[in-house]
Amino acid sequence: MKNYLSTLPSQQKNLYEQVAEYVHNLINEGILQPGDRLPSVRKLHQQLSVSISTVLEAYRLLEDRHLITVRPQSGYYVKTTIKAAEPFPSQPSTQTACFVDTSLAFRIRTAINNPQLIQLGAAIPDPALFPVATLNRLMGQEIRAQPEAVHRYNVPIGCESLRQQISKRLIDAGCSVNPNQIVITNGTTEAIFLALKAVTKPGDTVAIESPTYYGLLEALEALHLKALELPTHPREGISLAHLESAFQKQQVAACAIVSNFSNPLGSCMSATKKRQLVSLLNQYNIPLIEDDIFGDLYFTEQRPQAIKAFDTEGKVLHCASVSKTLSPGLRVGWIVAEAYQSKIEQLKAVMNYSTTIAPQLTVAAFLANGGYDRHLRKLRRSYRSHMELMLQAICHYFPAETRVTQPQGGHVLWLELPQHFDAMVLYQQACEHNISIAPGIIFSASGGYNNCLRLNCGIPWSDSLEKAIETLGILSKQQ
Ligand SMILES: Cc1ncc(COP(=O)(O)O)c(C=O)c1O
Repeated sequence: MKNYLSTLPSQQKNLYEQVAEYVHNLINEGILQPGDRLPSVRKLHQQLSVSISTVLEAYRLLEDRHLITVRPQSGYYVKTTIKAAEPFPSQPSTQTACFVDTSLAFRIRTAINNPQLIQLGAAIPDPALFPVATLNRLMGQEIRAQPEAVHRYNVPIGCESLRQQISKRLIDAGCSVNPNQIVITNGTTEAIFLALKAVTKPGDTVAIESPTYYGLLEALEALHLKALELPTHPREGISLAHLESAFQKQQVAACAIVSNFSNPLGSCMSATKKRQLVSLLNQYNIPLIEDDIFGDLYFTEQRPQAIKAFDTEGKVLHCASVSKTLSPGLRVGWIVAEAYQSKIEQLKAVMNYSTTIAPQLTVAAFLANGGYDRHLRKLRRSYRSHMELMLQAICHYFPAETRVTQPQGGHVLWLELPQHFDAMVLYQQACEHNISIAPGIIFSASGGYNNCLRLNCGIPWSDSLEKAIETLGILSKQQ
C-alpha cells in the first residue's frame, strides 16, 4: 500500500486530516469503489500507527464531506451515488380555498403511531438517538433544587432561564430575539395553534405549502379555517409566483409554512427566497406562521436561517420545539410573535395557563451545559446516514420509476410513484406486514398525492428495516 502519510505536508495538517486525505485518495483512485467497506477503524489504526480516535475523527470528517457513510454495527462504506430522480413540483388537485376534513388522517395517524409496527410512518425519531439519561438526571436535579416551585403555576410566557437559552440558540438561526419576546408552549403544535388563533378568525383562508404537515391541516380544521394549497418545489419550497397571484385574487388571512427541511417534502428555501417571501408578505400585509422545527437538523455546513431572520415588521410568528432534537415527550416548544406577542400570551393563558415547569427547567439546563451542540452534531450525522441508507435501499428495491426527495436535512423522505399507484393500498398491505407508512393523501386538504408516500428516517438502520423496505418495494412493484 502506498504510504500517503509520509508524503503529506504534515506540518500544515492535523494528523486526522492527513488520515482523511489518505482514505480520500484511495477513493479517488478507485481502489475503494462506491459501496465498498472501508478498512475498520482498528485496522487503519494499526496500519498507519495512529490512534483510534484519530481514525474516528478522520472518518467523521469524510462523513461530513459526504464521501463515506456509516452503517451501525457494520462499519464505514464509500458512499454510492443515488440515481433516483426527484419528485416533480407539486400540483395540488385544487387551488381553491377549502375547509379541511382530517378524519382519515386522524385514523391513519393513530395507526402509524402504533409501536408494534416498524415505524416508517410517523416522523418520530428513535428515543435511542436522544440523550435520555442526561435529560432524566437533569430533571431530577432541577426538581430537587426547586421542590415546591415546580408544582406552582408558571407565568404564561414561561421560565426565564429557558427563554434566555432559546434566545441564544436563535442567534444561530440568524435571529436576534430578546428572551422577553419568547413565549414557551407545549411543543410546536401549540405554538402553531396559538399563532393561527392570533391572526385569523373562523372562515378565513390560510395559504399553505402542498403537500403539507398533517398536524397543520388538523389545526386549520379545528379552527374552522380554509386551506389554500399552493404548488411547492421539492427542494425550493412554496411557489412565490402562486402565492402572489393568490394574494391578488383573494383575501388571505395568513400564510403557514415549514421553513427548513419541510415535512413531508424536505424542501428548504434559499436565503434569497426567504427575503423575497417576507417582502411579498409585507407588501400585502399578511402575517407568516413559520414552523422551524427541523432547522437544527441540517446536513450542510451551516444552519439555514429562519425566515424570522428577514422579518422587518414583526409579523413572522416563529414556532419551533425540541421535539426533533431532544425529546418530543417533554413537550417544550416556543413562539416568537413580536407584533402579536400580547395576544399570544393572553391566548396561552386561556388555553392552559402555562407549560409545565419541570420540563422547561430540564431543557434550559441541557441547553446551558448538557453539550447540546455536540449532541446535535451526532444526531445530524445519524439522521443523514439513516437517510442515505434508506435512499440506497429505495433505489434498490422500489420500482425504477420511483421519484424520491434528497433533502439536505431533517429525517423524512417523500416518494412519488407513477399516477396509477395507490398508496392507500400499500398502506393497508404494509400494516399486514407490521410496517407503518404515511400515505400521501394525509398531507393534502383536497385529497391529492395518493401516488405518494412519506417514510421516516429517524430510526437506526437494521436488517429488519432493510427487510421492511424490500417488502414495501415488492408490494409496490406488484401494483
Ligand atoms: C413540521 C412539524 N411541525 C410540528 C410538529 C409537531 O411538533 P411538536 O412535537 O413540537 O408539537 C411536527 C411533528 O412531526 C412536524 O413534523
